[in-house]
Amino acid sequence: MKITELIALRDYWYPIAKVDEMTPKLVELFGEEFVLWNSIEGPSLVQAYCPHRGARLDCASQDTGQLVCPYHGWEFAHDGKATLIPQLEPKVPIPPKAKLATYHVTERYGLVWACIGEPATQGPPAWLEADELGWRVQVDFFEVWASSAFRIIDNNLDQSHPAFVHKSTFGDPTRPRIPQYEVESTPIGFRTRIPQFVGGVGPQMGIEDEDIDFDRFQEAELLAPLHTRIRLEYGGTAPDYAFYSCATPIDDTHAIYMRCSALAGDEESQPYSLFHDYSRRVVDEDKMILETTNPDFPIEITSEVHLRCDRNTVEYRRLLNKLSRSSDPKFKNGTSNIRPSSAVSS
Ligand code: FES
Ligand SMILES: [Fe+2]
Repeated sequence: MKITELIALRDYWYPIAKVDEMTPKLVELFGEEFVLWNSIEGPSLVQAYCPHRGARLDCASQDTGQLVCPYHGWEFAHDGKATLIPQLEPKVPIPPKAKLATYHVTERYGLVWACIGEPATQGPPAWLEADELGWRVQVDFFEVWASSAFRIIDNNLDQSHPAFVHKSTFGDPTRPRIPQYEVESTPIGFRTRIPQFVGGVGPQMGIEDEDIDFDRFQEAELLAPLHTRIRLEYGGTAPDYAFYSCATPIDDTHAIYMRCSALAGDEESQPYSLFHDYSRRVVDEDKMILETTNPDFPIEITSEVHLRCDRNTVEYRRLLNKLSRSSDPKFKNGTSNIRPSSAVSS
Protein backbone atom coordinates (compact mmCIF):
# COMPACT_ATOMS: atom_id res chain seq x y z
CA MET A 1 0.00 0.00 0.00
CA LYS A 2 1.23 3.49 -0.82
CA ILE A 3 1.04 6.11 1.88
CA THR A 4 -1.48 8.32 0.04
CA GLU A 5 -3.85 5.36 -0.32
CA LEU A 6 -4.48 5.02 3.41
CA ILE A 7 -6.92 7.89 3.85
CA ALA A 8 -7.32 7.45 7.63
CA LEU A 9 -3.68 8.52 8.12
CA ARG A 10 -4.80 12.08 7.41
CA ASP A 11 -6.56 12.12 10.79
CA TYR A 12 -3.27 12.03 12.74
CA TRP A 13 -0.80 14.76 13.67
CA TYR A 14 2.54 15.21 11.94
CA PRO A 15 5.45 17.57 12.58
CA ILE A 16 5.71 19.95 9.62
CA ALA A 17 8.30 22.48 10.85
CA LYS A 18 10.51 23.42 13.73
CA VAL A 19 9.02 26.35 15.66
CA ASP A 20 11.92 28.63 14.80
CA GLU A 21 11.79 28.03 11.04
CA MET A 22 11.26 30.91 8.63
CA THR A 23 7.69 31.31 7.40
CA PRO A 24 5.69 31.50 5.20
CA LYS A 25 6.81 28.03 4.27
CA LEU A 26 5.55 25.59 1.64
CA VAL A 27 4.50 22.32 3.27
CA GLU A 28 3.76 19.09 1.39
CA LEU A 29 1.62 16.42 3.01
CA PHE A 30 0.19 13.32 1.35
CA GLY A 31 1.13 14.72 -2.06
CA GLU A 32 -0.72 18.03 -1.53
CA GLU A 33 0.64 21.50 -0.97
CA PHE A 34 -0.10 23.83 1.94
CA VAL A 35 1.44 26.99 3.34
CA LEU A 36 2.42 27.50 6.97
CA TRP A 37 2.60 31.07 8.22
CA ASN A 38 2.65 32.87 11.56
CA SER A 39 0.23 35.53 12.72
CA ILE A 40 0.21 37.12 16.18
CA GLU A 41 -2.23 34.37 17.13
CA GLY A 42 0.33 31.69 16.29
CA PRO A 43 0.90 29.31 13.38
CA SER A 44 -1.74 28.93 10.67
CA LEU A 45 -1.79 26.28 7.95
CA VAL A 46 -3.69 27.28 4.82
CA GLN A 47 -4.26 26.21 1.25
CA ALA A 48 -1.18 26.83 -0.87
CA TYR A 49 -2.64 29.03 -3.60
CA CYS A 50 -4.38 32.41 -3.42
CA PRO A 51 -8.11 32.19 -4.22
CA HIS A 52 -7.85 35.28 -6.45
CA ARG A 53 -5.42 34.39 -9.25
CA GLY A 54 -3.45 31.50 -7.83
CA ALA A 55 -0.21 32.95 -6.52
CA ARG A 56 1.53 30.50 -4.22
CA LEU A 57 1.38 31.95 -0.76
CA ASP A 58 4.78 30.95 0.54
CA CYS A 59 5.84 34.06 -1.40
CA ALA A 60 3.46 36.19 0.70
CA SER A 61 4.58 38.51 3.49
CA GLN A 62 3.42 38.27 7.09
CA ASP A 63 5.13 41.33 8.59
CA THR A 64 1.87 43.09 9.40
CA GLY A 65 0.38 40.07 11.16
CA GLN A 66 -1.72 39.32 8.07
CA LEU A 67 -0.78 37.06 5.17
CA VAL A 68 -0.36 39.50 2.27
CA CYS A 69 -0.43 38.04 -1.23
CA PRO A 70 2.36 39.53 -3.37
CA TYR A 71 0.33 39.45 -6.61
CA HIS A 72 -2.52 41.93 -5.96
CA GLY A 73 -2.12 42.66 -2.26
CA TRP A 74 -5.07 40.79 -0.78
CA GLU A 75 -4.65 40.28 2.95
CA PHE A 76 -5.80 37.29 5.00
CA ALA A 77 -6.18 36.82 8.75
CA HIS A 78 -5.24 33.87 10.96
CA ASP A 79 -8.62 32.21 10.32
CA GLY A 80 -8.11 32.44 6.54
CA LYS A 81 -10.68 35.18 5.92
CA ALA A 82 -9.68 38.07 3.64
CA THR A 83 -9.51 41.28 5.64
CA LEU A 84 -8.41 43.64 2.86
CA ILE A 85 -8.88 43.66 -0.91
CA PRO A 86 -7.19 46.85 -2.11
CA GLN A 87 -9.09 46.96 -5.43
CA LEU A 88 -12.57 46.98 -3.85
CA GLU A 89 -14.59 50.18 -4.22
CA PRO A 90 -15.43 51.90 -0.91
CA LYS A 91 -18.31 50.34 0.99
CA VAL A 92 -18.28 47.19 -1.16
CA PRO A 93 -18.09 44.24 1.25
CA ILE A 94 -15.42 41.58 0.98
CA PRO A 95 -16.89 38.56 -0.88
CA PRO A 96 -17.38 35.66 1.56
CA LYS A 97 -15.55 33.32 -0.83
CA ALA A 98 -12.40 35.40 -0.48
CA LYS A 99 -11.10 33.00 2.09
CA LEU A 100 -8.32 30.44 2.51
CA ALA A 101 -9.08 26.92 3.65
CA THR A 102 -7.39 26.37 7.01
CA TYR A 103 -6.21 23.17 8.69
CA HIS A 104 -5.52 22.03 12.26
CA VAL A 105 -2.16 23.12 13.56
CA THR A 106 -0.51 23.31 16.98
CA GLU A 107 2.91 23.75 18.58
CA ARG A 108 4.48 21.20 20.92
CA TYR A 109 7.98 20.01 21.82
CA GLY A 110 9.63 22.72 19.70
CA LEU A 111 7.73 21.57 16.60
CA VAL A 112 4.73 22.70 14.59
CA TRP A 113 2.29 19.81 14.12
CA ALA A 114 -0.54 19.59 11.59
CA CYS A 115 -3.56 17.39 10.98
CA ILE A 116 -5.21 17.88 7.61
CA GLY A 117 -8.16 15.56 8.33
CA GLU A 118 -10.49 15.16 11.30
CA PRO A 119 -8.15 14.74 14.27
CA ALA A 120 -8.26 11.24 15.75
CA THR A 121 -6.67 12.62 18.91
CA GLN A 122 -6.78 16.05 20.55
CA GLY A 123 -3.20 16.77 19.61
CA PRO A 124 0.13 15.00 19.10
CA PRO A 125 0.73 12.03 21.43
CA ALA A 126 2.17 12.84 24.85
CA TRP A 127 5.82 11.98 25.40
CA LEU A 128 6.19 10.29 28.78
CA GLU A 129 9.85 11.05 29.44
CA ALA A 130 9.46 14.67 28.34
CA ASP A 131 6.15 15.41 30.05
CA GLU A 132 6.31 13.38 33.24
CA LEU A 133 9.97 12.65 33.88
CA GLY A 134 11.34 16.03 32.78
CA TRP A 135 14.18 14.61 30.68
CA ARG A 136 16.08 17.02 28.39
CA VAL A 137 14.31 17.23 25.03
CA GLN A 138 15.83 18.40 21.75
CA VAL A 139 15.11 18.01 18.05
CA ASP A 140 17.93 15.78 16.76
CA PHE A 141 16.88 15.48 13.10
CA PHE A 142 14.30 17.09 10.86
CA GLU A 143 15.08 16.26 7.25
CA VAL A 144 13.64 14.84 4.04
CA TRP A 145 14.35 11.19 3.25
CA ALA A 146 13.57 9.53 -0.10
CA SER A 147 11.60 6.76 1.58
CA SER A 148 8.00 5.87 2.29
CA ALA A 149 6.96 6.99 5.77
CA PHE A 150 5.75 3.42 6.39
CA ARG A 151 9.25 2.06 5.88
CA ILE A 152 10.81 4.55 8.30
CA ILE A 153 8.45 3.59 11.12
CA ASP A 154 8.71 -0.11 10.29
CA ASN A 155 12.48 0.21 10.60
CA ASN A 156 12.14 1.87 14.02
CA LEU A 157 10.26 -1.18 15.24
CA ASP A 158 12.42 -3.74 13.46
CA GLN A 159 14.64 -5.74 15.84
CA SER A 160 16.86 -7.73 13.52
CA HIS A 161 18.33 -5.05 11.23
CA PRO A 162 20.84 -3.45 13.70
CA ALA A 163 23.20 -6.44 13.58
CA PHE A 164 23.70 -5.78 9.86
CA VAL A 165 22.72 -2.18 9.07
CA HIS A 166 24.52 -0.83 12.14
CA LYS A 167 27.60 -3.03 12.08
CA SER A 168 29.81 0.06 11.90
CA THR A 169 28.27 1.53 15.06
CA PHE A 170 26.48 -0.73 17.56
CA GLY A 171 25.46 -3.82 15.55
CA ASP A 172 27.25 -7.17 15.48
CA PRO A 173 26.49 -9.59 12.61
CA THR A 174 27.83 -12.48 14.71
CA ARG A 175 24.93 -11.95 17.15
CA PRO A 176 21.88 -11.88 14.88
CA ARG A 177 19.35 -13.60 17.19
CA ILE A 178 16.72 -11.69 19.14
CA PRO A 179 15.40 -12.86 22.53
CA GLN A 180 11.77 -13.84 22.66
CA TYR A 181 9.44 -10.96 23.51
CA GLU A 182 5.76 -10.19 23.88
CA VAL A 183 3.66 -7.52 22.21
CA GLU A 184 1.30 -5.62 24.49
CA SER A 185 -1.63 -3.67 23.07
CA THR A 186 -2.15 -0.03 24.02
CA PRO A 187 -5.24 2.12 23.38
CA ILE A 188 -3.67 3.46 20.15
CA GLY A 189 -0.92 1.03 19.19
CA PHE A 190 1.28 -1.48 20.97
CA ARG A 191 4.38 -1.77 23.12
CA THR A 192 7.25 -4.25 23.43
CA ARG A 193 10.05 -4.63 25.94
CA ILE A 194 13.15 -6.42 24.71
CA PRO A 195 16.46 -7.22 26.45
CA GLN A 196 19.48 -6.28 24.33
CA PHE A 197 23.22 -6.75 24.55
CA VAL A 198 24.90 -4.01 22.52
CA GLY A 199 28.34 -2.58 21.96
CA GLY A 200 29.43 0.80 20.73
CA VAL A 201 26.64 2.96 22.17
CA GLY A 202 28.81 4.64 24.82
CA PRO A 203 28.67 8.12 23.21
CA GLN A 204 24.91 8.19 23.83
CA MET A 205 25.68 8.08 27.56
CA GLY A 206 28.65 10.44 27.66
CA ILE A 207 31.25 7.66 27.24
CA GLU A 208 33.63 8.18 24.31
CA ASP A 209 34.96 4.62 24.34
CA GLU A 210 32.96 2.65 21.77
CA ASP A 211 34.41 -0.73 22.77
CA ILE A 212 32.28 -1.16 25.87
CA ASP A 213 29.31 -3.57 25.78
CA PHE A 214 26.06 -2.90 27.60
CA ASP A 215 23.05 -4.88 28.73
CA ARG A 216 19.92 -2.82 28.32
CA PHE A 217 16.18 -2.96 27.79
CA GLN A 218 14.56 -1.45 24.75
CA GLU A 219 10.97 -0.40 25.18
CA ALA A 220 9.44 0.29 21.78
CA GLU A 221 5.96 1.75 21.45
CA LEU A 222 3.80 2.78 18.53
CA LEU A 223 2.21 6.08 19.60
CA ALA A 224 0.37 6.74 16.32
CA PRO A 225 0.45 5.07 12.89
CA LEU A 226 3.61 6.98 11.93
CA HIS A 227 5.06 7.80 15.32
CA THR A 228 7.21 5.72 17.69
CA ARG A 229 8.73 6.07 21.12
CA ILE A 230 11.83 4.05 21.94
CA ARG A 231 13.34 4.10 25.40
CA LEU A 232 16.73 2.58 26.22
CA GLU A 233 17.27 1.62 29.86
CA TYR A 234 20.64 0.71 31.32
CA GLY A 235 19.57 -0.28 34.85
CA GLY A 236 21.50 2.52 36.51
CA THR A 237 24.87 1.75 34.87
CA ALA A 238 24.55 4.73 32.48
CA PRO A 239 22.04 7.52 31.81
CA ASP A 240 18.88 6.35 30.02
CA TYR A 241 17.35 8.10 27.01
CA ALA A 242 14.34 7.96 24.71
CA PHE A 243 13.76 8.67 21.04
CA TYR A 244 10.52 9.99 19.59
CA SER A 245 10.39 9.51 15.84
CA CYS A 246 7.83 10.58 13.27
CA ALA A 247 7.70 10.09 9.56
CA THR A 248 5.70 12.96 8.09
CA PRO A 249 4.38 11.77 4.71
CA ILE A 250 5.34 14.24 1.98
CA ASP A 251 4.21 11.86 -0.76
CA ASP A 252 4.45 8.14 -1.53
CA THR A 253 8.22 8.18 -1.83
CA HIS A 254 9.37 10.94 0.51
CA ALA A 255 8.95 11.71 4.19
CA ILE A 256 10.29 14.10 6.77
CA TYR A 257 12.31 12.08 9.22
CA MET A 258 11.84 13.79 12.57
CA ARG A 259 13.57 12.54 15.66
CA CYS A 260 13.62 14.13 19.06
CA SER A 261 15.54 12.73 21.99
CA ALA A 262 14.96 12.98 25.71
CA LEU A 263 18.04 12.47 27.87
CA ALA A 264 17.86 11.49 31.53
CA GLY A 265 21.35 12.82 32.29
CA ASP A 266 22.42 16.43 32.51
CA GLU A 267 24.81 18.10 30.07
CA GLU A 268 27.83 17.17 32.16
CA SER A 269 27.05 13.46 32.45
CA GLN A 270 25.52 13.04 28.98
CA PRO A 271 26.90 15.78 26.67
CA TYR A 272 24.51 16.45 23.84
CA SER A 273 27.15 16.99 21.12
CA LEU A 274 28.63 13.52 21.77
CA PHE A 275 25.14 12.03 21.77
CA HIS A 276 24.12 13.82 18.58
CA ASP A 277 27.28 13.10 16.57
CA TYR A 278 27.00 9.39 17.32
CA SER A 279 23.26 9.40 16.54
CA ARG A 280 24.02 11.02 13.19
CA ARG A 281 26.21 8.08 12.23
CA VAL A 282 23.58 5.55 13.29
CA VAL A 283 20.72 7.34 11.57
CA ASP A 284 22.69 7.69 8.32
CA GLU A 285 23.03 3.90 8.28
CA ASP A 286 19.22 3.57 8.49
CA LYS A 287 18.69 6.25 5.85
CA MET A 288 20.99 4.51 3.38
CA ILE A 289 19.02 1.25 3.47
CA LEU A 290 15.58 2.86 3.74
CA GLU A 291 16.12 4.89 0.60
CA THR A 292 16.44 1.60 -1.29
CA THR A 293 13.16 0.14 0.03
CA ASN A 294 9.97 -0.37 -1.95
CA PRO A 295 7.44 2.44 -1.37
CA ASP A 296 4.65 -0.09 -1.78
CA PHE A 297 4.31 -1.36 1.80
CA PRO A 298 2.51 -4.71 2.28
CA ILE A 299 -0.21 -4.65 4.94
CA GLU A 300 -1.59 -8.12 4.17
CA ILE A 301 0.15 -10.43 6.64
CA THR A 302 0.25 -13.32 4.20
CA SER A 303 2.17 -11.43 1.54
CA GLU A 304 5.58 -11.54 3.25
CA VAL A 305 7.73 -14.00 5.18
CA HIS A 306 7.84 -13.34 8.93
CA LEU A 307 10.08 -14.68 11.68
CA ARG A 308 9.43 -14.84 15.40
CA CYS A 309 11.68 -11.81 15.93
CA ASP A 310 9.40 -9.82 13.58
CA ARG A 311 6.46 -9.91 15.98
CA ASN A 312 6.21 -6.16 16.40
CA THR A 313 6.53 -5.36 12.70
CA VAL A 314 3.83 -7.99 12.04
CA GLU A 315 1.69 -6.19 14.61
CA TYR A 316 2.40 -2.93 12.78
CA ARG A 317 1.04 -4.41 9.55
CA ARG A 318 -2.04 -5.67 11.41
CA LEU A 319 -2.71 -2.25 12.82
CA LEU A 320 -2.38 -0.55 9.42
CA ASN A 321 -4.59 -3.20 7.88
CA LYS A 322 -7.24 -2.51 10.52
CA LEU A 323 -6.94 1.22 9.89
CA SER A 324 -7.40 0.68 6.17
CA ARG A 325 -10.60 -1.29 6.81
CA SER A 326 -11.96 1.31 9.16
CA SER A 327 -15.73 1.11 9.30
CA ASP A 328 -15.97 4.86 9.67
CA PRO A 329 -18.47 5.85 6.98
CA LYS A 330 -16.35 8.71 5.78
CA PHE A 331 -13.84 6.22 4.42
CA LYS A 332 -16.29 3.65 3.12
CA ASN A 333 -16.47 4.83 -0.45
CA GLY A 334 -12.86 5.82 -0.57
CA THR A 335 -13.94 9.43 -0.18
CA SER A 336 -11.63 11.78 1.58
CA ASN A 337 -12.46 14.13 4.40
CA ILE A 338 -9.68 16.40 3.22
CA ARG A 339 -10.46 19.65 1.51
CA PRO A 340 -8.53 20.04 -1.74
CA SER A 341 -5.80 22.60 -1.35
CA SER A 342 -7.25 24.62 -4.20
CA ALA A 343 -10.71 24.86 -2.60
CA VAL A 344 -12.08 28.01 -1.05
CA SER A 345 -14.19 27.54 2.07
CA SER A 346 -17.26 29.66 2.33
S1 FES B 1 -3.41 36.27 -6.73
FE1 FES B 1 -3.36 36.78 -4.66
S2 FES B 1 -4.20 38.76 -4.59
FE2 FES B 1 -4.37 38.22 -6.67
FE1 LIG C 1 18.32 1.28 12.68
